[in-house]
Amino acid sequence: MAKRDDLVVGLDIGTTKIGVIVAARTENGVDIVGIGTHPSRGLRKGVVVDIDATVDSIKHAVEEAELMADCEITSVYAGIAGSHISGINSHGVVAVKDQEVSESDVARVIDAAKAVAIPMDREVIHVIPQEFIIDDQDGIREPLGMSGVRLEAKIHIVTAAVTSAQNVVKCANKAGLNVMDIVLEPLASAEASLSDDERDLGVCLIDIGGGTTDIAAFANGSIKHTSVLGLGGYHISNDIAVGLRTPFDEAERIKKKFGVATARYLASDDVISVPSVGGRRPREVSRKILCEIIEPRVDEILSLARQVLVKEGLEEKIPSGVVLTGGCSALEGLADLAEEIFEAPVRTGIPRHIGGLQDVVRGPMFATGVGLTLFGNERIQGRSTARFRIRDGSIFTRVRQRMRDWFYGDFD
Ligand SMILES: Nc1ncnc2c1ncn2[C@@H]1O[C@H](COP(=O)(O)OP(=O)(O)OP(=O)(O)O)[C@@H](O)[C@H]1O
Ligand SMILES: [Mg+2]
Repeated sequence: MAKRDDLVVGLDIGTTKIGVIVAARTENGVDIVGIGTHPSRGLRKGVVVDIDATVDSIKHAVEEAELMADCEITSVYAGIAGSHISGINSHGVVAVKDQEVSESDVARVIDAAKAVAIPMDREVIHVIPQEFIIDDQDGIREPLGMSGVRLEAKIHIVTAAVTSAQNVVKCANKAGLNVMDIVLEPLASAEASLSDDERDLGVCLIDIGGGTTDIAAFANGSIKHTSVLGLGGYHISNDIAVGLRTPFDEAERIKKKFGVATARYLASDDVISVPSVGGRRPREVSRKILCEIIEPRVDEILSLARQVLVKEGLEEKIPSGVVLTGGCSALEGLADLAEEIFEAPVRTGIPRHIGGLQDVVRGPMFATGVGLTLFGNERIQGRSTARFRIRDGSIFTRVRQRMRDWFYGDFD
């Protein structure tokens, strides 16, 4: 198969599926040219717990994507999630050297803002500038060339457990792939599904997947908060399996076919046939009972997400409301229930800002994978600085470099 250097590939290592999205870089952005998915067996709550099973799933998904795109995949942008992720805001101040902000002033002020103590077992994934303040003028996005004497930077730092990050890289490497960078999954989903207007006004992206619920809140055009909750569609299906005494795979099927976020939205109360375990005969169960099992879990997930916003003081700062992505956002009535809980407008986000085979990645579960290709494209073109700024080098060299920095007393 041919190697192509105009391709950028996203590897979404999810709890329920591995998704590989292949995109060709064009003048206007990216065109989707291939996709491969395979059930994921080696993850729990977004974190790799079985390397061999994960490598196997990755290989299958990559093979499928290679066939569809008719090319060889050698390097990827990989997503990372899990409740070990933490996002903090920080800020730094420096004096402007020649009364006009230069690149070195910007680098110095970001270094100053990065100077927070990060524990040994955590790795910095992203350092994203939120805004710059020159003298007393705030809200500056591009400070280069501006006059002033005092430069201040507000930044958002995302860290992950070193071991989890290394396991993502290890799995990809063992499947024969180079990892160009690892990207926080909610930021990738946001890249694919949010508009600039929404980010400017204030919006919260919530990606409800199989094992995690990822949150990314934006206001004034920049990221304000990121976090990952260890709950998702797996827990809904598990509740159904236990509640209706049916195998997990049947619970999944029933959830997708008959599930509604709350029994209050059911127009009519039909009866559904539920297979039993241990060879017993299927039973007839009212659909209302199914929805009464689903509702408390969905309510818990959305309420926890809302609590995060309240705790961060962001609830009043997202007039654009909430955008839902991830497989669970396909659950009937979820957006309506979310509107009730958040008391804000809610829409389901599907990947946009792309060309090519748009139809095959139209589902909200592909937001992360598509976002990874968009992120990779921005990186390659050197335009990633505004939304994501990450240090160069592979994750391992970055870990080594940071240890060296600590050794010489330079915390970052
Ligand atoms: N139509 C549907 N109705 C309800 N739930 C659905 C539907 N389609 C998919 N799901 C659920 O979405 C979940 C998978 O979503 P997704 O593919 O986004 O997860 P993932 O990326 O593998 O996991 P994570 O991001 O949590 O690591 C599963 O729990 C699945 O049951
Ligand atoms: Mg996911």
